Amino acid sequence: MLRLFVGLSLPAEIRLRLMGVMGGVSGARWQTEDQLHLTLRFIGEVSEDRAEDIDSALDRLHFEPFDLTLRGLGTFGNDRKTRALWAGVSPEGPVADLAQKVEQAVVRTGLPPETRRYSPHITLARFRNGKVRLDRVMAAGGDLMSTPWTVDRFHLYRSHLAHTGAAYEILASYPDGPDGD
Ligand code: 2AM
Repeated sequence: MLRLFVGLSLPAEIRLRLMGVMGGVSGARWQTEDQLHLTLRFIGEVSEDRAEDIDSALDRLHFEPFDLTLRGLGTFGNDRKTRALWAGVSPEGPVADLAQKVEQAVVRTGLPPETRRYSPHITLARFRNGKVRLDRVMAAGGDLMSTPWTVDRFHLYRSHLAHTGAAYEILASYPDGPDGD
C-alpha cells in the first residue's frame, strides 16, 4: 500500500522565506525545508493498482498556470488546543479550482469524495501540547508576504511516515518533466 497525496512544491526562495519565520514557539515540531508543500488533496493508503489509476487520471488533467504569493499565518485547532501553524496563500481561487479538478479526477478512479472543505495552507509546525504561545511567531510573520511565483505543475507525493517525521517523495509530476529547483 502507498500513502499518497497530491500537492504543490514550493520554489527554493519561498521555502527559505518560510524557514525564516519558524521559531520562537515552545513545543513546536517545525517542518523541515524538505517537508514544505501545499496539499491539494490528501488520498491516504491505496493499492499500487489504484495509484496507477490516480496517476493516469492526474495526467489527463489540464489547468492554466497561475501566480501565488504567501499571505499571512494562521492556525488550526480550538481555544484549548492549537494543532498546527500554517502559512496562507493568495489568491486562493485558482488553488481551490485546481484542488477541485484533482478531486474530480481522483473520485473518477473510485475513491470516496472528500467531505471536508478545502482550505489551502502550508503547514509550518504541529504542536504536541495544548495551548501554545504564538505571539512571537505572529509578531515575526503574521503579516507574511512574498513575491509571486508561478504554479505551472503539481505532484503526486508518497508520504513515508517515521518517528522522526514524515518524508515526502514526489512520485510523478503534472505536466511531467524536470523540476526547476
Ligand atoms: P496538514 O499539513 O494540514 O496536516 C501529507 O500528510 C499532507 O496531507 C499534509 O499536508 C496534510 O495536511 C495533508 N492531509 C490532509 N488530510 C490529511 C489526513 N487525514 N491525514 C494526513 N494528512 C492529511
